[in-house]
Amino acid sequence: MSISFQVQDRLFTLHTRTTTYQMQIGPLGYLCHLYYGRRAEGSLSHLYRPEEFGFSPNPYPLRLQKVTSLDTMPQEYTGCNTGDFRVNCLTVSGAEGAYGAEFRYVSHAILPGKYAVEGMPSAFAGADEAETLVITLADEVTGLELELYYGVFEARDVITRAARLRNAGENALTLERAASLCLDFPFGDWDLLHFQGRHNMERQVVRAPITGGIQTASSRRGASSHQHNPFVILAEQDATEDRGDCCGLMLVYSGSHRTDVERDQTGSTRVVMGIQDSQFRWTLAPGEHFQTPEVLLTFSHEGLGQLSRNYHRFIRGNLCRSPWVNRRRPVLINNWEATYFDFDTDKIISIARQASALGVELLVLDDGWFGSRYDENRGLGDWFVNEEKLPGGLDRLISEVNGLGMQFGLWVEPEMVNEDSDLYRAHPDWALTLPGRAPTMGRNQLVLDMGREDVVEYLYQRLSALLEGHNISYIKWDMNRSLTDVYSRALPPERQGEAAHRYVLGVYALLERLTARFPEVLLEGCAGGGGRFDAGMLAYCPQIWCSDDTDAVERLSIQYGTSFGYPVSAMGAHVSACPNHQTGRTVSLDTRAVVAMHGTFGYELDLNLLTEAEKAAVRRQIERFHRYADLIGQGDYYRLTDPARTSDCYAWQTVSPDKAEALVSVVIPHVRATTPLIRVQLRGAGGGRPVPGFRVRRVQRRERLRCPVRPGGGQGVHRRGADVQRLRPPPAVRRLPQRSDSLGKGAVTWIP
Ligand code: DGJ
Repeated sequence: MSISFQVQDRLFTLHTRTTTYQMQIGPLGYLCHLYYGRRAEGSLSHLYRPEEFGFSPNPYPLRLQKVTSLDTMPQEYTGCNTGDFRVNCLTVSGAEGAYGAEFRYVSHAILPGKYAVEGMPSAFAGADEAETLVITLADEVTGLELELYYGVFEARDVITRAARLRNAGENALTLERAASLCLDFPFGDWDLLHFQGRHNMERQVVRAPITGGIQTASSRRGASSHQHNPFVILAEQDATEDRGDCCGLMLVYSGSHRTDVERDQTGSTRVVMGIQDSQFRWTLAPGEHFQTPEVLLTFSHEGLGQLSRNYHRFIRGNLCRSPWVNRRRPVLINNWEATYFDFDTDKIISIARQASALGVELLVLDDGWFGSRYDENRGLGDWFVNEEKLPGGLDRLISEVNGLGMQFGLWVEPEMVNEDSDLYRAHPDWALTLPGRAPTMGRNQLVLDMGREDVVEYLYQRLSALLEGHNISYIKWDMNRSLTDVYSRALPPERQGEAAHRYVLGVYALLERLTARFPEVLLEGCAGGGGRFDAGMLAYCPQIWCSDDTDAVERLSIQYGTSFGYPVSAMGAHVSACPNHQTGRTVSLDTRAVVAMHGTFGYELDLNLLTEAEKAAVRRQIERFHRYADLIGQGDYYRLTDPARTSDCYAWQTVSPDKAEALVSVVIPHVRATTPLIRVQLRGAGGGRPVPGFRVRRVQRRERLRCPVRPGGGQGVHRRGADVQRLRPPPAVRRLPQRSDSLGKGAVTWIP
């Protein structure tokens, strides 16, 4: 039993393999949070002791006792306007317009299996893999009922949380904020790690101490966004990859979101995470309920690396429902950076022919195959083939591609429409626009109102017809602008504050129906690169295009940041042409491949333009990927370097589940005149200490493991019991003349 309730102390204890989460029904029935951290036994109720703080008000029944205040009490979920001045979970008002709620314990149930989240993706459990705790609380005055859900995945070291608010009263209520959770850390000095960025530079790690005040990571863009990922980590200030306590909070949601972190007057740190409350207003009629998205929690006392691996395993094993999630993905060629909009059947087939000759397995036809899509200003919404570009239609092209022994994949952007399209001309009211205002444009396109059932139904029928009618094995689902002008013509004025969340529910409804009907289609998410790289989309898409920036050097930090929460098997990554189209930089083909293998691996360039030597290299790269695909996709991932300490070298390692084999990848991104020796500590088990499985007896030929530092990347395989001679040093190393006079310069060496 991973969940227990101790009647006498009114104590809930949730145990996973290495962690404990504890809460207690406190004074007046408030649900107090006591602890989330390294596994501990027995009652931890001593961790919360009410103390008097001036200007922290007391609940009326305790007005003489004076020490208990909601303002200093760690709580599992807060109400509003009743004395807790910290960041709160809920803002609700009732019939008289009065804001106010405070929740008291009513009942609880411990259930086998994992609860489901209505209308939104959530984690799932295999037989006997999880238990659920549901605690029901209520606000007596409004009649608002709160169900707190806890899913405990003991072996995975993950606890999921979600909340459900039901109006059990007689009057309509208005929600202006409804977060998924509150998590109080009553003691400890923490750093906050969050993942911010921009288009072409997503998920850059930002780490800073949590000081007094409130820090917010949020998106108001209608999507989880390039700018702020819905994922944060609290880490002990001296926590490293291998050591120290850290706690991750990951929102399973793809729309606007908000995470507030506040260190309060008592030194306690509170995190509140959930959907965005800006412009949010949800009417809850009597009997209606509101479901919040789920949050995935994991705690590691063995540093950030273990925290990431917990998430990687969980996303692969308990979140993504695609049968593809643990399968080897086909090596693909995508025509976008090879042709942009300028292609026809012959051009695509010539790319496919060359790709197939080199061992590529899937051709993806990107933007431009439909309607009047000759450039980015028109055609979106008209998901019918453009026969002028592709005479004979998709079938002719697909049969030629299949004839080359390759599968066929197609790009779509279902949530969008151009004004210059048949769809918009027929249904202008389907787009999000504000009454009386010219719409704000993004990429000269508009956003469809996915909160409308007729829009979702139309897209379901159209996309189903495409998938039924043609032999399509893969879909790239793009989304190329943020939401503005959020106003739904299907909602009455008082419900306009629901439009942004209903949009996300509509996207999920469509994905739900399509993935149920076409489970074998490999779905790759995308939003102008990685603008919607989140756990919500990963429930449907086993892979998401990581960034529109395909420069291998820039990708190092993008993929590094992404790896804190999301598995390598989810990161869409391609080898593209040089000079790179985004940066103009030239990087060796080998290095580009090493970086793209830190992901799903594919190509995005016209392979016909390569030299014969480069084509031979591509063939070898694909062979290499096949050799290591399972290791890369299923292995345990270790970050070996930290760009905050040195940007001279990026190294990472994937270890097979049986720990018999590891792939080490190293990239030197910058040229420097003089660089000291860079030492890379291999990891694999036991937190950075020498790993028993990775005995490398003695460095017998040191020069083979050293190279003057120069830009380039390479990979080496490390097998149990192997000595260094069986390690394959990076190609950059092997190409160098192994002269001792080169050894005095900066060098990379692996420390087993
Ligand atoms: C943005 C994507 O990220 C690109 O890969 C490409 O598919 C374009 N959209 C096409 O418009």
